[in-house]
Amino acid sequence: MPQKFGIGIVGCGGISSSHIEAYQQLHEQCTVVAACDPVEASAARAAERYGISVRYTDHRRLLADDRVHLVSVCVPHFLHAPITVDAARAGKHVIVEKPMALTTGEATEMIEAARASGVMLTVGSERINPRYRFIRNRVLPEIGRVRFSWLTDFYYRDSAYYSRGPWRGKWAKEGGGIFANQAIYTWDQWQDLLGGVDLAYGYWTNILHPEIEVEDIGYGLVFFHNGSHGKAFATSACEPIENGQGIRILGEQGEIATDSAWLYQLDFSLQDQKAEAALRRDFARAVDPSYIGRYQHWQAADFFDAIRSGRQPVVTPESAREALKILNGIHWHGWLHAKRFLEWARSVDDFGRFKDAAEAKHGGWRGGKLVPRLLEFVRTDSRTLDAPFLARD
Ligand SMILES: NC(=O)c1ccc[n+]([C@@H]2O[C@H](COP(=O)([O-])OP(=O)(O)OC[C@H]3O[C@@H](n4cnc5c(N)ncnc54)[C@H](O)[C@@H]3O)[C@@H](O)[C@H]2O)c1
Repeated sequence: MPQKFGIGIVGCGGISSSHIEAYQQLHEQCTVVAACDPVEASAARAAERYGISVRYTDHRRLLADDRVHLVSVCVPHFLHAPITVDAARAGKHVIVEKPMALTTGEATEMIEAARASGVMLTVGSERINPRYRFIRNRVLPEIGRVRFSWLTDFYYRDSAYYSRGPWRGKWAKEGGGIFANQAIYTWDQWQDLLGGVDLAYGYWTNILHPEIEVEDIGYGLVFFHNGSHGKAFATSACEPIENGQGIRILGEQGEIATDSAWLYQLDFSLQDQKAEAALRRDFARAVDPSYIGRYQHWQAADFFDAIRSGRQPVVTPESAREALKILNGIHWHGWLHAKRFLEWARSVDDFGRFKDAAEAKHGGWRGGKLVPRLLEFVRTDSRTLDAPFLARD
């Protein structure tokens, strides 16, 4: 076990700075020794900005460097699996960005590669944040048996967002749109609270992003290991509608809920008001109310401790793989129905008058009649999923 972990950064784009800055906060435990990006200027920029002494343009060369013990995999989604497998086989511990991979099969290959090499693997996740930990460990047991849950996510994105990288908006490289890149953040916490996923299916289509191949709106039904079921909606076609955003986990003795994005503000209520007041006192002590984002240093600190002590990290790769069951389940089921969903959506609302999401936004479109209708579907506590566009003939 090294005294200090040597860190290699694979992929020097947008998110890599958060990883490097997190490691630099933990300088007593680690040093970022190498940065790698096939775009030489990107590796050079990161190296100069953060004083990283070694840079590579091929991740295999970084993985052959003995000074590197642990890598952050910060590359486009489709490369998460192959680079993580290469890293594990080279004997490096790995923190891989979300989504863990494009499919549960890839995730399984990653888990097995890490197991076979005796290295540890974790996945970037907001589940590490103290507010979430408190809700999961202390509040969840108090709300009783969960009856039903729903989760609705709005993350407006325009064409400029998708033109930021050649991998974005492509099935083969991003593995999906709003689901694979954004909704996966909250799906990961949702499924973790409910014990993992048995089965998921749903519907998606693309209503206002003609420049991309993948979905910009959709919804689904998930059956969880704890016996409960829940429904989710996500879109990148518009900003949140009034009272549209949020999560509800409805238990027999209380609920976990927020109307905020990203679950940063997850809160709770209990039927037993005395029990709730006691729990709130502990909550106030355990949780910094100003917390927002930037969880990477907590994750790195947890991972270092897990490696040194031989315990599991808070975010195990097996638990992160569960969120991909939702992604894959909704995608593959919805694939068959995407065209009819679009035709039906056009019959519900005339968003087709706009050329794309940006024009719709400037024209004041906020989901029209379509989004409220879909939100109705996901907030209905039935064990089936409304889909009026399904072929009946
Ligand atoms: N956790 C978060 O909050 C968060 C935020 C943004 C992105 N991400 C995730 O991080 C990943 C990267 O996203 P980004 O926004 O930084 O993308 P980006 O396009 O800005 O950066 C990706 C970088 O990877 C490089 N790259 C491509 N192939 C490579 C290879 N074979 N070896 C090494 N580098 C390679 C690219 O040249 C680019 O510099 C995505 O999977 C994304 O989902 C996470």
